Amino acid sequence: MSFRVQPAAPARPNRCQLFGPGSRPAIFEKMAASAADVINLDLEDSVAPDDKAQARRNIIEASHNVDWNTKYLSVRINGLDTPYWYRDVVELLEEGSERIDQIMIPKVGCAADVYAVDALVTAIEAAKGRTKRISLEVIIESAAGIAHVEEIAASSPRLQAMSLGAADFAASMGMATTGIGGTQENYYMLREGVKHWADPWHWAQAAIVAACRTHGILPVDGPFGDFSDDEGFRAQALRSATLGMVGKWAIHPKQVALANEVFTPSEDAVAEAREILAAMEKAKAEGAGATVYKGRLVDIASIRQAEVIVRQSEMIKA
Ligand code: COA
Ligand code: MG
Repeated sequence: MSFRVQPAAPARPNRCQLFGPGSRPAIFEKMAASAADVINLDLEDSVAPDDKAQARRNIIEASHNVDWNTKYLSVRINGLDTPYWYRDVVELLEEGSERIDQIMIPKVGCAADVYAVDALVTAIEAAKGRTKRISLEVIIESAAGIAHVEEIAASSPRLQAMSLGAADFAASMGMATTGIGGTQENYYMLREGVKHWADPWHWAQAAIVAACRTHGILPVDGPFGDFSDDEGFRAQALRSATLGMVGKWAIHPKQVALANEVFTPSEDAVAEAREILAAMEKAKAEGAGATVYKGRLVDIASIRQAEVIVRQSEMIKA
């Protein structure tokens, strides 16, 4: 380990972030009753320009009147390149209830974008005497965002989570696809005439995970657009979990159970992790740093891998 020890990410479940347009208050109660860990009420791209003001009113009202129970309640504001974002923050935090936990900043391109929102949030909290400290989450969904991902991850002590937004990311990168996440028809390797589909999101995801883990932020996979394709969602989510991401967005309620299933360590995985820890305890007692578990090497690094799974499972159960 470096002299600078890797900080732990916030210890809260973030397996699924369920989105809903702020302009559609009829679904707010349904979102609150869902099994998602995080609720994202949207003021950005699912809300038409003429509806922005009313969507703010809806969200402010829902922060007072809807029982959000144990949900982590986040509101996605508009991008810093729009005329809407400052009013989103001002109205939400001047008039919204203390139930609001987090603000999500879309299309972040550099650390200063987060700094600007942090400064505004800090001033309003002080002016209004808000007692709950608002946290921030960001979406990496542009070429600039991924190019500056590490400075963005380090940008603010309020920052708790970072998501990959596949659609805007693809557009900004000039990628030849309209797909939102998942396998892309033309992204394949050819071997002896047989196509093998690779993962065009892999690099961005791995870059986000590395930046997040360096700075103690939760890395999250964003939307999977085709909500009729459960297997496609599951495959994408399994890849994200394998790379170190802790959760995924749901843009339709049917995706919530799928995300929870993938990002909750299975009983078998937890049992195996505990067996590895026990095997290493035994090895340690015998003065060995490595041993054999089910025919394969386990060593002191395996303890750290197994602990990730056990800790994740215990946090979710708690
Ligand atoms: N959260 C909770 N409930 C939702 C929901 C959501 N995001 N979207 C739909 N529902 C409800 C519907 O009200 C309906 O409830 P009912 O059975 O009581 O009538 C049920 O789930 C089935 O909905 P369905 O008819 O399949 O979907 P729809 O046509 O009403 O809405 C979308 C589909 C995609 C437009 C809608 O899910 C949506 O707006 N998703 C979020 C989009 C978003 O926020 N994008 C920004 C991030 S990328
Ligand atoms: Mg977007």
